Amino acid sequence: MELEDIKNRALAEIESALDKSELDKSRVKYLGRKNGEITVLLKSLPDLPLEERRESGPLVQRLKKEIEEAIDFKEKELLSASDQEAIDLTLPGKKIKVGHLHPLTQTEDEVRRIFSSLNFSVIEGPEIEAEYYNFDALNIPENHPAREMWDTFWLKPTRNQRLTTDGGRKLLRTHTSPVQVRYMETHQPPFQIIVPGRVFRYEATDASHEINFYQVEGLMVGKDVSLANFKFIIEEFLKKFFAGKKIEFRYRPSYFPFVEPGLEVDIRLTAGGRQATCLRQGYGKAKQGTRSKGKWLELMGAGMVHPRVFEAAHYNPRDLQGFAFGLGLDRLAMIKYNIPDIRMFYSGDLRFIEQF
Ligand code: PHE
Repeated sequence: MELEDIKNRALAEIESALDKSELDKSRVKYLGRKNGEITVLLKSLPDLPLEERRESGPLVQRLKKEIEEAIDFKEKELLSASDQEAIDLTLPGKKIKVGHLHPLTQTEDEVRRIFSSLNFSVIEGPEIEAEYYNFDALNIPENHPAREMWDTFWLKPTRNQRLTTDGGRKLLRTHTSPVQVRYMETHQPPFQIIVPGRVFRYEATDASHEINFYQVEGLMVGKDVSLANFKFIIEEFLKKFFAGKKIEFRYRPSYFPFVEPGLEVDIRLTAGGRQATCLRQGYGKAKQGTRSKGKWLELMGAGMVHPRVFEAAHYNPRDLQGFAFGLGLDRLAMIKYNIPDIRMFYSGDLRFIEQF
């Protein structure tokens, strides 16, 4: 009875101790060497008759152990609580970094949005392409010197491929133009599409060349689609894209085997765009912020779809006309944000990326 009473009191006191000094008081009260209640009980054991001693001895010992354990447990609890108090709650919190889309993705989204508003559909095609679509169907047969316009990453043929009849080699597409033919094979005009996508060139890199970059192909085909339509669409697009800036356009004759006539479009911005602080580290002598103003910049190749390309798609060239263009997406983003070096897009340098 007496033991039971001690046990209840002791455990309750220990449990409710608010700090170490209160806990120490309980320790002394029950286990203290001189007058601790348990100590006193233990000391009195030898005076008891043998029978009682045999009975109470182990009970008192067990209670002692229980109280010691309760104190140890509470001590640890108080200790870890005081650890927490050591945290300085007035320190500023850690800022959580929220990611955002890459400037090239943002630019691509904008291009998709504007062309969709001009009633163009957005189509995609494979990055690993057949030689046929990348070249032959675009009027660039094997051994045609024009193939040298595109330095190509060829893929090693797999064993299966060698066994099949298709025979053609695989490559990483050097432009988005192969999707023109892929689309025409399965659709009938009139239509107007754009094809944003990644392309690859086996070239030395510098401030304006990367081994991979992004293009947006455009294709509009109908009964009497003309270069005048092209001019209207592309100027409309660029005015929207460079909203609020004054743009001049320049059309130069050029050559691509899959268009006739072929041309290139340059633009010149006369009012300034948004300045991005461009990091120079590791990019040689890239100039800062001066690139896009007042200078003519090549933006795209274009032209009227060559009859051979219509034939490859099993269209009758006599019935149809169309324009096609291939626009450099990286170039577009570089002009818009005043970025002097294309390699910055692919550097993974957060100091650059975080500015957009
Ligand atoms: N595919 C061409 C290139 O990458 C660009 C282009 C597209 C030119 C469509 C004319 C028409 O160089």
